[in-house]
Amino acid sequence: MRKLTNILVTGGAGFIGSNFVRVLLNDSAFKGRVINVDKLTYAGNANSLNDVAEAKGDRYIFEHADICDRAKMDEILSKYDIDTIVHLAAESHVDRSIEGPGAFVQTNIVGTFTLLDAARQFWAGKEGVLFHHVSTDEVYGSLGDTGYFTETTPYDPHSPYSASKASSDHLVRAYHDTYGFPITLSNCSNNYGPYQFPEKLIPVMIENMLQRKALPVYGDGKNIRDWLYVEDHNSAVWAIMQNGTLGGSYNIGGENEWENIRLLHELIDIVSEEANINKEELTSLITYVKDRPGHDRRYAIDCDKLKNELGWKQSVTFEEGLRKTVKWYLENREWIEQIQSGEYLKWIELNYSAR
Ligand SMILES: NC(=O)c1ccc[n+]([C@@H]2O[C@H](COP(=O)([O-])OP(=O)(O)OC[C@H]3O[C@@H](n4cnc5c(N)ncnc54)[C@H](O)[C@@H]3O)[C@@H](O)[C@H]2O)c1
Repeated sequence: MRKLTNILVTGGAGFIGSNFVRVLLNDSAFKGRVINVDKLTYAGNANSLNDVAEAKGDRYIFEHADICDRAKMDEILSKYDIDTIVHLAAESHVDRSIEGPGAFVQTNIVGTFTLLDAARQFWAGKEGVLFHHVSTDEVYGSLGDTGYFTETTPYDPHSPYSASKASSDHLVRAYHDTYGFPITLSNCSNNYGPYQFPEKLIPVMIENMLQRKALPVYGDGKNIRDWLYVEDHNSAVWAIMQNGTLGGSYNIGGENEWENIRLLHELIDIVSEEANINKEELTSLITYVKDRPGHDRRYAIDCDKLKNELGWKQSVTFEEGLRKTVKWYLENREWIEQIQSGEYLKWIELNYSAR
């Protein structure tokens, strides 16, 4: 098992990153420090980790910085003597990438390159260092009715988001193959859970149900995604970081495929029970909208490599995870209101009222 001590988490104020920081600092076997580097874009909220900052003292440090800023990355690597990087910072929303791909190219490609190159220089001649890159199954493109993405499925991205993530994956692997730079990489399916920014499918639907707003469903609602609870994603990332093969890629998935429309009905059942709202009233809010351009039909992950090599498995069932998520959104209105107070509301009005 690798000994990881001073861990730089990029994008730690985002959905998956904040959960990763929490998982890490609550793991009693981990005695090191976490340095969270985040630019705090519309999707980042440093307050998501207030509890951790309070409880963990100087084992948790927040640095407000852009991963594209090379001088700042050099300074942070050296200041905290970083031995491990887990790279999550990204522009992450497909719809936004269709409307404005520039920021995706900048952060996901140029930012990843900047960080890789800063680490390569800082780690020259050092042993026991690691760069783990967090990526998505969307790089593989779309599946038909059968089959699964494996680690050897050729890349075939269709949106500016997935193309920018594919590009960053290639850069990470190229640094390993060219310079012997120590990397591991993971490609995960759709995540859900607490602290997810309310423009992604599950939180947007929960929020709209609570506000009795339309529940927008793209196309015929039959696109299929493989859903995984965020803590299960992060336990897999942590397992790969500690025991994964250097240079290796691992698929992470829920083995939990759902058509969007079926998922929405499941969510309606849970919100109706937990928030005590009439189920028929919620069902009547379902509104089919024009399909997303280049919308991939089906994603499904084969994660046998991760299970067989590292003994990882999912621990939260979909019913259990969805219920926990709904309860969290009901109980954390302050977080939602804070995150919805800025640019996001303007964006969602503009987009969903135009359809
Ligand atoms: N959400 C999913 O279902 C999913 C699935 C597989 C992989 N991923 C990958 O996981 C990672 C995290 O996804 P997420 O859903 O938590 O995203 P998110 O949008 O919730 O969080 C991204 C974070 O990155 C920060 N950030 C953006 N640009 C930055 C920059 N230039 N410098 C520093 N920080 C910056 C943001 O402020 C935010 O806190 C991404 O790399 C994404 O591609 C996400």
